[in-house]
Amino acid sequence: MSMGVDVCITYERSFYFNLPEVQSALHANHTRLPYEWSMCSNLLNYSGIDANMDMLPILKRIVQNKIPVWIFSGDQDSVIPLTSSRTLVQEIAKDLNLKTTVPYRAWFHKDQVGGWVTEYENLLTFATVRGAAHMVAYAQPSRALHMFRRFVRGQRLPNKPHSSTDN
Ligand SMILES: *[C@@H]1O[C@H](CO)[C@@H](O)[C@H](O)[C@H]1NC(C)=O
Ligand SMILES: *[C@@H]1O[C@H](CO)[C@@H](O)[C@H](O)[C@H]1NC(C)=O
Repeated sequence: MSMGVDVCITYERSFYFNLPEVQSALHANHTRLPYEWSMCSNLLNYSGIDANMDMLPILKRIVQNKIPVWIFSGDQDSVIPLTSSRTLVQEIAKDLNLKTTVPYRAWFHKDQVGGWVTEYENLLTFATVRGAAHMVAYAQPSRALHMFRRFVRGQRLPNKPHSSTDN
C-alpha cells in the first residue's frame, strides 16, 4: 500500500522527458536523436566505481575559482541525510579558510520557513528545504523553485517572511 508515495514515478519520468514540449523547454535534444530518452541508456560507458569518486576536490576548485556553489538537501531525505551534506560543506569551508557570512538560520518562502541556510563568504551556501525528501523539487516544488530562482539571480535566501523579491 502506498502512503502518499507515487510508485509509478519511474514510468512518469520517461513519459514526461520524452514530451516534445518538455524537451523544448529544457533546450534538450536539439539534434533530434534517433532514440528515446531513458534514465540510463548505456550510451555512456560509466563505471560503477566512478559513483564512489570524491567530489569534494572538484567542488573546492569551483569555489576557489569564485564560482558560487549552493548545496541543498531536503530535511526529510532518508537517502542522504542533511547532516552528512552539511558536515561536508563545513569541511570545504574550513579547508579553504572561508568565513561564515550567514550563520545557520531559517529562510522563508510564502510566509513560512522554507528551510535553513548557512553561507560562507558569499560563495558557498548550504541550504535545507523543509518538508522535502530526496527529490526536493518533486516533494516541495514551490520552495525548490524559490531557492533555484534566488541562486540564478545571485540573491541570498530571505531571512524574513515578507520580502520584496519573494515571488
Ligand atoms: C529526440 O527528439 C526526437 C524527435 O525530434 C525524438 O524522436 C527522440 O525520441 C528524442 N530523443 C531523445 C533522446 O530525447
Ligand atoms: C567500457 O569501459 C570498460 C572499462 O574501461 C572497457 O573494458 C569496455 O571495453 C568499455 N566498453 C565500451 C562499449 O566502450
